[in-house]
Amino acid sequence: MVETVKTGVEGLDSVLNGGLVENATVLVSGNPGTGKSLFGIQYLYNGVREFDEHGIYISFEENAEDIRQAAESIGFDEWGDLVERGDIKVYDKSTMLREGDFSSAIDTLLEDFANASYDRLVLDSLTMFSLFFEDEKEKRTYLLKFSDILKQNGLTSLLINEQGAVFPETEIGLENFLTDGNVYFIQTPTDSGVNRYVWVAKMRKQDIDTDIFPMEIADGGIKVYERAGGFSMMGREGPEAGF
Ligand SMILES: Nc1ncnc2c1ncn2[C@@H]1O[C@H](COP(=O)(O)OP(=O)(O)O)[C@@H](O)[C@H]1O
Ligand SMILES: [Mg+2]
Repeated sequence: MVETVKTGVEGLDSVLNGGLVENATVLVSGNPGTGKSLFGIQYLYNGVREFDEHGIYISFEENAEDIRQAAESIGFDEWGDLVERGDIKVYDKSTMLREGDFSSAIDTLLEDFANASYDRLVLDSLTMFSLFFEDEKEKRTYLLKFSDILKQNGLTSLLINEQGAVFPETEIGLENFLTDGNVYFIQTPTDSGVNRYVWVAKMRKQDIDTDIFPMEIADGGIKVYERAGGFSMMGREGPEAGF
């Protein structure tokens, strides 16, 4: 039996057969707008509120205020308080990119891992993080080292991977050498909006359900639905249709 870390996302922990494997680094991939950042926010927020676990949110994409507003957009009104109390530590864009000194920002981060006790980490995004390295070899070496450091510090981590037109070149195989798990968020346009799905493609050491499940983003965050009979990703059925 492996120890698991519950995401607290309704419907997802059963797909994961209990939760994320403790100390795993999990790649979360998807196109822009699929819910990756909200998933990270929800993972940390639930971590504090339901499991008394502290978290770190590292963002190269947004500042702390944007992140708080995103949390509030799904009804996580206490996000700001949790950050103020230090239950969630936010290293935002302005911190990480201060004076353009990436390596000293990383040093500060590593010191923080060593001095404080965190359980959950979100890196938003691995894609941006990777842009700081000169070549593929340097990047891989560093990422392997970084993922070891996360494990050594007892962190269970989500590494967000921006997919699609914006950063196509970064899709090449990061997941193959780096991560213990792979979760994909998928969206397909429909006449009335968008259908959303989640696919857990891989979770080392865990017997997961590798089907694709419908999900929804609404007040309260992400919700994953049981797959109903005859469900098809291309079909018109969705959460609204009785899932
Ligand atoms: N309260 C809400 N109800 C429904 N959808 C929401 C809500 N808040 C945010 N969203 C949706 O969530 C998506 C943003 O998710 P986000 O996690 O930022 O995506 P990503 O990080 O993958 O680019 C947007 O498409 C937005 O429409
Ligand atoms: Mg995002």
